[in-house]
Amino acid sequence: MIRLDKYLSNMNIASRSKVKEILKGGRVRVNSKVETKGDVKVDPEVDVIEFDGVRIFYEQYRYFMLYKPQGCVSATKDRLSDTVLDILKDENTDGLFPVGRLDKDTEGLLIITNDGKTAHELLSPAKHVDKKYLVHLDKLIDDAAIAQIEAGIDIGDDKPCLPCEIEKIEDDKVFITIREGRFHQVKRMFAAVGLNVTYLKRVSMGAVTLDENLQPGKYRRLTDEEIERLKNK
Ligand code: URA
Repeated sequence: MIRLDKYLSNMNIASRSKVKEILKGGRVRVNSKVETKGDVKVDPEVDVIEFDGVRIFYEQYRYFMLYKPQGCVSATKDRLSDTVLDILKDENTDGLFPVGRLDKDTEGLLIITNDGKTAHELLSPAKHVDKKYLVHLDKLIDDAAIAQIEAGIDIGDDKPCLPCEIEKIEDDKVFITIREGRFHQVKRMFAAVGLNVTYLKRVSMGAVTLDENLQPGKYRRLTDEEIERLKNK
């Protein structure tokens, strides 16, 4: 059971404050009866809830694109730092979690969902989902170092990294696309050729790209098309 106002805002009908107005205006019916109180509990899987005469169907899974800012941790709880879920404080965060992790000082695309199956498939090492990062380096990178990383560099784990692609933007700035998600992977790949990563931003995951209109610390829902693409990689 969930509060009607919370349910309506979760279903993206309007923000919590607007939902109040909508309820007061008599625009919501629960099992055919107008309901004006937000604190009434409903069971979205059983109760028929209508807004302006149109039935709202229960949305089991929710997907958000978040521009993770630096300084915030990719966890659901942390004693000391802000987490990515704190950014979604206006949403019902029950069951939501970030799909994978970015380091505290890394920024960029993080998908937040309550869909465990899709998250698992995106993260599964066997699925080799592409992750693209913008990397700033402390020194110039030469073609030999690029070739070495692209071929699948040894970063001291059991196995070398899988081959990857690097696209040079400037002498000390590149895009890198990797298909794994090892601990501090990008930083360690460049460290293996003597370079320090000074700035790291994830720009895409699978077929979903960080929205250019999104500022750090902001988020939006994924569109139906993005959800479809995410599931089909
Ligand atoms: N690789 C890293 O080193 N850090 C990240 O946050 C993501 C990929």
